[in-house]
Amino acid sequence: MLETKELTRYYGSFLALDHLSLTIGDGELHGFVGPNGAGKTTTMRILATLLAPSSGDVVLDGVNLKKNPRRIREMVGYMPDFFGVYDNLKAWEYLDFYARCYGIRAEQRKKMTGQLLDLVGLADKRDAYVNSLSRGMKQRLCMAHALIHDPKLLILDEPASGMDPRARADMKNILRTLREMGKTVLISSHILPELAEMCDALTIIDHGKLVFSGSVEALNEKMNGDAPVEVRLLSDGETDEAVRIARQCPGVTAIGQEGPGLLRVKLPAGEEAAAYLLSMLMQGGVRVADFHRAPLNLEKVFMEVTADA
Ligand SMILES: Nc1ncnc2c1ncn2[C@@H]1O[C@H](COP(=O)(O)OP(=O)(O)OP(=O)(O)O)[C@@H](O)[C@H]1O
Ligand SMILES: [Mg+2]
Repeated sequence: MLETKELTRYYGSFLALDHLSLTIGDGELHGFVGPNGAGKTTTMRILATLLAPSSGDVVLDGVNLKKNPRRIREMVGYMPDFFGVYDNLKAWEYLDFYARCYGIRAEQRKKMTGQLLDLVGLADKRDAYVNSLSRGMKQRLCMAHALIHDPKLLILDEPASGMDPRARADMKNILRTLREMGKTVLISSHILPELAEMCDALTIIDHGKLVFSGSVEALNEKMNGDAPVEVRLLSDGETDEAVRIARQCPGVTAIGQEGPGLLRVKLPAGEEAAAYLLSMLMQGGVRVADFHRAPLNLEKVFMEVTADA
């Protein structure tokens, strides 16, 4: 539904976004990851029609951003990373104000502000002044604001940055609800593990360039395809036999013993070699209690893929 093609943005002579092409599917919760200055906010501001690209295209549901920015604006809800809020308004008045801006009728507005405050967990702060809300609450109010015109695509620029662990968990629930409502969400963060856990797909950028875009499984395969297989045997007494069998398997390059009955076997990427090793162990009568590739360390992946060239 959303496609960027060779999206490029200069600030003066500085290239902040470098031919970024990515696709986000309908109803997808898409994580956008990169270190400080990677170009996440720049991309999101372009998608929200607040910043013009230097070159390249954005197409959302068949609508071209350059040709019809107004139509795009109607389809997109944007929550900026830093926001000014109107302090002399109560929470419900704040939402009501923006609903008016979108020309929404009075009865509808009343219903909607209630529903949105409910959705973001601020129902009990309905009559609180915006300046009396904590930072995390303000972020949630801004999220409600971004949803007021019922956009198809929601763009959230680091929505969880000011939130405590409890509020982060709530945020994940809100995002799940939005997905059930059929919304497409692009959400940025510096925290790859957190996004990987809840998103359907991820895009990683660095220095304005695409590093990776695809499913979490694809990232795992790409970064971790040839991670060693950890084999836990039912009893330590079967270790020697297991090592003997593993040595005979094609592709096995190293076998380490990590502990009693625990082996780490280096294999080529892909499932073929792992499946063969497991079948040989079982044919050899070795009782395998657990067999898996070492889990992907997402913190490490983030550091690796964004390491300065
Ligand atoms: N208005 C501007 N004028 C000049 N340079 C800018 C401007 N806005 C952003 N940049 C530069 O463009 C690059 C990308 O910035 P951007 O804000 O898109 O990064 P980001 O990925 O959102 O980073 P962060 O994680 O810190 O929010 C940075 O090097 C930044 O200094
Ligand atoms: Mg940013």
